[in-house]
Amino acid sequence: MNALNRPYERGDRETVVALTLACFRGVSIDQNIEQLHGVIHGRDWEWRKTRALLNELDGSPSDVLVLEDQDHTLVGFVTAITDAEAGIGRILHLAVRKDMRRRGVGRRLIAAAIEHLSGNGMSHVRIETLEQNTACIDLYPKLGFEEIARQVHYIMKIPTE
Ligand SMILES: CC(C)(COP(=O)(O)OP(=O)(O)OC[C@H]1O[C@@H](n2cnc3c(N)ncnc32)[C@H](O)[C@@H]1OP(=O)(O)O)[C@@H](O)C(=O)NCCC(=O)NCCS
Repeated sequence: MNALNRPYERGDRETVVALTLACFRGVSIDQNIEQLHGVIHGRDWEWRKTRALLNELDGSPSDVLVLEDQDHTLVGFVTAITDAEAGIGRILHLAVRKDMRRRGVGRRLIAAAIEHLSGNGMSHVRIETLEQNTACIDLYPKLGFEEIARQVHYIMKIPTE
């Protein structure tokens, strides 16, 4: 597909948030929590996901890359956070519009993220996914990522007296 990577701009913010919420339905820890316990404290999983994402978009905008098609429509994005002290960069968010999947966009975004991290002095890159995220479980090892650990997430309602 003919598409261009470009740096994130402030004007992409709403589109990136909407894309994230559409893409992470079904592959979100916060949504798993909500399925078990309902909406907690008046905050749904979309609010929680948006808050986590905005930490990256607003806190490290230069670490966000977007990919758009010839019509300048955004088809995906990635956040690739550098850590100059640690030397290990982290890909924290990655999403591709549903109608544009399985065409290599995800791969291109990860390649761009790695180039960005390498260019900013990172020697390694971390990425994580949920066991239920079959696409990523399949994709990341193909790109050279090695599994290093599995983490189990728990939640419990705190009993009230
Ligand atoms: C993960 C994601 C970014 C992949 O984007 P993409 O543009 O479809 O990825 P690519 O076309 O570059 O790579 C496709 C590869 O991913 C894997 N893959 C993608 N969708 C898959 C699926 N439904 N089932 C199994 N493997 C899948 C395969 O390895 C596939 O390779 P193949 O086409 O040669 O079989 C996209 O599915 C997405 O946005 N998912 C929702 C958000 C998300 O999970 N983000 C990452 C959180 S860790």
